[in-house]
Amino acid sequence: MSIRPARRITDTSPKNFGMFAKAIGMEGDLIHLELGMPAEDTPQHIKDATIAALQAGHVHYSDLQGIPELRSAIAEKLRRQNGLDLLPDEVIVTNGLTQASFAAFMAFLDEGDECLLLAPYYSQHVGKAELAGAKVTIAPLDAADNFSINRALIEPFITPATRAIALINPCNPTGRVYSRAELQTLANIALDNDLLVFSDEVYSDIVYDWATHVSIASLPGMKERTITMGAFTKSHAMDGWRLGYIAADTSLIGPCMKMTSNEVTHVNTFIQYGAVAALTGDPQVLKGMVDRDCARRDLVVTRLNRMPRVTCAPVEGAIYAFPDISATGLTSQECADRLLAETGVVVEAGSFYGSAGEGHLRVCFGCADLPVLEDAMGRMHRFFDTL
Ligand SMILES: Cc1ncc(COP(=O)(O)O)c(C=O)c1O
Repeated sequence: MSIRPARRITDTSPKNFGMFAKAIGMEGDLIHLELGMPAEDTPQHIKDATIAALQAGHVHYSDLQGIPELRSAIAEKLRRQNGLDLLPDEVIVTNGLTQASFAAFMAFLDEGDECLLLAPYYSQHVGKAELAGAKVTIAPLDAADNFSINRALIEPFITPATRAIALINPCNPTGRVYSRAELQTLANIALDNDLLVFSDEVYSDIVYDWATHVSIASLPGMKERTITMGAFTKSHAMDGWRLGYIAADTSLIGPCMKMTSNEVTHVNTFIQYGAVAALTGDPQVLKGMVDRDCARRDLVVTRLNRMPRVTCAPVEGAIYAFPDISATGLTSQECADRLLAETGVVVEAGSFYGSAGEGHLRVCFGCADLPVLEDAMGRMHRFFDTL
């Protein structure tokens, strides 16, 4: 029999679900802090607009790139908040950020190309670059320097085959929001080495305190070499809706359109009206959600820093704390496994995000309400007390 999977399947690393896969099906009183699934419900005005669109008969095929109202609203948000000068025709609505990055990687990476990830990295980017035929290379950032973007740590990994760098800003898993100066460093590397930047900005609306999110595409010379990707997933608690977007210069958007239109034709029509409401509705709703994430962050970071042998750097954005547990002498996987077995708290091992994440745990605080987080922190504290 000659039926066999394509080489792009057999040659691609398996998708690893980490601690989620270990915890699933386990009995007992578990607290799940391993997945980035928002605790909030989707705001009511977004649901109402979607239901109204459905009732109004927006149930047919629509614009392949996304409904014009939504593309205009996204372009306007990117202009106002991210300093990006893009037309509605330079936006494609996608099935979450997952489809945006899949389309972008497939559209711009070839067999034999290298795609550089900054580590700790988001593991989904590995599989997608490999599916596109590219080889993934890793530039480990330094935990002791708060995982800052540092030219000396990145440039040695650039070879003549490097085509692109994948950036996550704000960063999952570290909680860093990169400064303008750090992004300028990365932009200079891209400009000097003629590289494309895939900029995953799924957490761009979730920043705290003094942190300001800067889109790397807004820096001089970067618009033509950056594919900016966003989503409603985290900011508007719309993870199940599967709604995101690609925003890029016309020269970059055409190849991405070829991917998305062949792949899914377009995103479900009526939910796009909900996304219009998300962008044009009362901004206080989004602010309220971020404020509640901020309270969750305060509780978790404060409590982690009180635990023996645990130190947690400030979290500037996104919904994760990335505490350093190296003083326990356990590997991050041993620590995550023991936390699950001995306390029922499920967190991800830092090594899941590459060896640069070793010695850390990723604790999602955005996925639970304060009393649950309080319970989880109590259990974790007692665990670290016993070591
Ligand atoms: C950095 C990053 N990119 C992309 C995604 C996936 O986003 P979506 O659910 O919109 O596909 C996530 C989800 O956790 C993420 O953390």
